[in-house]
Amino acid sequence: MSMTVITPALPGPSVLEEARRRRTFAVISHPDAGKSTLTEALALYARVIKDAGVTHGKSSRHGTVSDWMGLEQERGISISSAALQLNHGDAVLNVVDTPGHADFSEDTYRVLAAVDFAVMLIDAAKGFEPQTLKLLDVCRRRGLPIITVINKWDRPGLEALNLIDGIAEQTGMNPVPLTWPAGRAGEFAGLFDLYRGEAVQLEAVRGGALPSLETTVAGGPATRDAQWQAALEEAELVTAANGKFDPAAFQVARQTPVLFTAAAKNFGVRQLLDVLTELGPAPSARRTAEGGHQPVDAGFSGFVFKVQAGQDAAHRDHIAFLRVCSGVFERGMVLTNARLGRPFATKYAHRVIGRSREVVDYAWPGDIVGLVNAARLRVGDSLYATETVRFPEIPHFAPELFTVARAADPGRYKQFRRGIAQLEHEGVVQVLRSDRRGEQAPVLAAVGALQFEVAQHRMAGEFHAPATFEPLPYTLAMHLNNAGETRLPETFRGGEIMHRSDGETLALFTDRYKLEHFREDNPGVEISAIGT
Ligand code: G4P
Repeated sequence: MSMTVITPALPGPSVLEEARRRRTFAVISHPDAGKSTLTEALALYARVIKDAGVTHGKSSRHGTVSDWMGLEQERGISISSAALQLNHGDAVLNVVDTPGHADFSEDTYRVLAAVDFAVMLIDAAKGFEPQTLKLLDVCRRRGLPIITVINKWDRPGLEALNLIDGIAEQTGMNPVPLTWPAGRAGEFAGLFDLYRGEAVQLEAVRGGALPSLETTVAGGPATRDAQWQAALEEAELVTAANGKFDPAAFQVARQTPVLFTAAAKNFGVRQLLDVLTELGPAPSARRTAEGGHQPVDAGFSGFVFKVQAGQDAAHRDHIAFLRVCSGVFERGMVLTNARLGRPFATKYAHRVIGRSREVVDYAWPGDIVGLVNAARLRVGDSLYATETVRFPEIPHFAPELFTVARAADPGRYKQFRRGIAQLEHEGVVQVLRSDRRGEQAPVLAAVGALQFEVAQHRMAGEFHAPATFEPLPYTLAMHLNNAGETRLPETFRGGEIMHRSDGETLALFTDRYKLEHFREDNPGVEISAIGT
C-alpha cells in the first residue's frame, strides 16, 4: 500500500544538488577524548554558537546542552542521540551524536547505520582505547570511510610518529596525514597543512573561546626554527612511507586521512572542517533489503535508526529519528511504514538538539529528522512516500550483560509487562524469555550497563512498575540456528537457552569454555555469532 496526500512542490534546488552538499557523519571515540569539545569547536567555526567558552569542558556543560532526562541530569551524561546541523561554505554538515559515556549501549552502534562516514577521535596522550576500537569495528563492518583526528596536541602526549604507527597496527588502515603539528605534544605552535600546502602558526584566542588566530608562515617553513624543521622532516617521512591521500582507498577504508587538533584551543579545527566538507563523502545510493540500491533522487525514503521515549515525562512522547535516504522530506507528508504497510502522518517533525527542538519543514538525503508522536515506529523501520522501499534491518548486537527483571510489587505486574514490552519495542534492551523463567522473570540483555540503568529508571518513573534486577553470570550469547529441529534442554552446565520475540533462539554462556563444551556435546546444533 502506498499513499501520498501532499505532493511536495519542490522548493528551488534539486534533490541531487542538496544531497551533494550534505556530509553526514558521527564522531567515534573513547569517553574524554574530546568529542563534545570538538563538536562545539566545529559549531563555533560554523557560527552556530558564538562563544565556545561557555560550553567547552564538562563542568560548564553539565545540565546545559543535552541533558534532558532525569538520569542524564543525575549522572551528567548524554544518553540521547541527536544530530547537530552545521553550515560551512556551501556544505551542510550533519554531526550525528554517539552517546559519549563510559558504557556502551546498542544505540551507540545503531547511530553508525545512519551516517556516511566517521571521524575517529584519539587522545594524543592515550592513543587507542578499547571503546574506540569497538566502535571502529562496527564502522568497518558497515564499510564506512574513517577520518582520524588526534586531539589534545596542546598537552604532553605520545610521539606523532608512534601514533601514526599505532593507527596502522591497530586498524589495518594506512594513515595518511593531511596536517602535521609543529612542536611536540604539549608545544603545539602551528601546523603544516599538507593538504593545502601551507604552514600555519596558531594562537589561542581568549583561551579557546573564539576561533584561533592563524598566521600563514611567510616564506615557508624553511625560515622557521628547529621545531618546524623537525616537523617538516617527519611529515615528509610519513608521506614518503604511506603515500598521498587517495580518495578511492579512503572510500573503502583502506586509507585514513589523519589530522592533529587541540579542540579546546580550536587548533586545527578549521582545517578539519575543510577536510570534512571537501573530502567527506556525500550521501549516495543506499542498499535496499532486496539487494538493489535506492538512488538519492528517487521518491522520498528513509529509515528509523533510533527511537526515544520519555523525553518529556509530562507528554509521554516518542521520537523516532529518521535518516533521509532519498527524495525530499516535507513536513505533513503522509508516508508508508514498510513493515506495517500503514500510513504515518508527519505533522510533527523536529530537529532535536538536547532539550531544544526546532520544526523541520524540509529535509534532504543525509539529514536527520525527529518524528514526534511516533509510538508505532521501531528501530529499522523504513518509510517511503510512493514507491515501496525497504532498507536492511539494523542488526542486533551481541549482548554481554544479562539480568533477570521482576516486578518489585507483584500487584503491579500488568504495568511491569507493559513497561518491559515498551522497552523491548524501542530497543532499549533485548528481552529474552524461556518457559522455565516465565513471563514474570524475563531476562534483559544489553551491550552496556547503562542500558539497564535506563530500563530500571523508566520502569519506575514512566511505567510506575519499579523492577528488581538480578544479574546473571553470563557474558556471551550466540544464535542457535536450527534449535527448532533439535531437542535441547533449557539449561546446561554454564548456560541456558532463551528466545527473543523476533523468533531467534539464543544460547547464553558464562564464558568461552562453556561454549566450546556445548559445541562438543551438541555437534548437530548450528551456532553462529550475533550481529554483523
Ligand atoms: P568527550 O565528549 O569525548 O567525553 O570529551 P570532552 O569533550 O568532554 O572532553 C574531556 C575533557 O578533555 C574536558 O576536560 C575537555 O576540556 C578536555 N579537552 C578536550 N579537548 C581538549 C584539547 O584539545 N586539549 C586539552 N588540553 N583538553 C581538551 P574536563 O576536565 O572534563 O572538563 P573542564 O575541566 O575542561 O571543564
